[in-house]
Amino acid sequence: MSKRIPIIAGNWKMNNTNQAAENLIKELKPLVKGARAEVVVCVPFTAISTAVKATKGSNIAVGAQNVAWADSGAFTGEISADMLVELGVKYAIVGHSERRTMFGETDETVNKRTKQAIKKGLVTILCIGETLAEREGGSMEAVLKTQIEGGFSGIGANELKNIIVAYEPVWAIGTGVTATKEQAQDTILYVRKTLAGIYGEQTAQTIRIQYGGSMNGGNVDELMAQPDIDGGLIGGASLKAVDFSKVVNFTCR
Ligand code: PGA
Repeated sequence: MSKRIPIIAGNWKMNNTNQAAENLIKELKPLVKGARAEVVVCVPFTAISTAVKATKGSNIAVGAQNVAWADSGAFTGEISADMLVELGVKYAIVGHSERRTMFGETDETVNKRTKQAIKKGLVTILCIGETLAEREGGSMEAVLKTQIEGGFSGIGANELKNIIVAYEPVWAIGTGVTATKEQAQDTILYVRKTLAGIYGEQTAQTIRIQYGGSMNGGNVDELMAQPDIDGGLIGGASLKAVDFSKVVNFTCR
């Protein structure tokens, strides 16, 4: 099995003004110095400049929470990859379940955004995940397969180094109900097998897959001890420096 570098990314969602962003990063920097994992904070568009400045010279990279599929033009409310790259953004979340459920994001738009992001040199964090009804109703695997095949459509194996998958069961996001380590491992293994079906087993072993959904300092160790879990996408626990640093500084693996 190839060695995959763990990656812990904070997803601030619609939180933190510029002042709050600066304060949070200032507090976070010394706490995550020397982390073994790649550390990312995905901040609101308005806080990107502040975050890039505040993280300068540290091991924290800055990500955005979405990215447009077009280069430029009549796309009111969208932010282009060029705009993000110019500011120093390195990562972009695409297809978060909140965007899928509240803002009409589909596998097709997720795919278009992902292609554009990687074309412009951004590392994409491509989110997938099932609802509770889908899990309990037995359609989870079919749902995830559709999301993966749609999200990765037309993307070549040589581009996969710039894509990270975030498996986030919708029922675990912001609920305090984390998937058990067995549920997370089993489902992420299924995600990896599905990717292997497209790209082959060897290539699938190189793709980093994060778990997301109420991950925090209390459960990170057992989740990160699972062989197929390569990191986390952290919402609530990324909003306080001490909480986020506990996730970043997990003690296994
Ligand atoms: P949560 O959010 O950690 O607050 O559950 C995770 C996410 O939405 O990425």
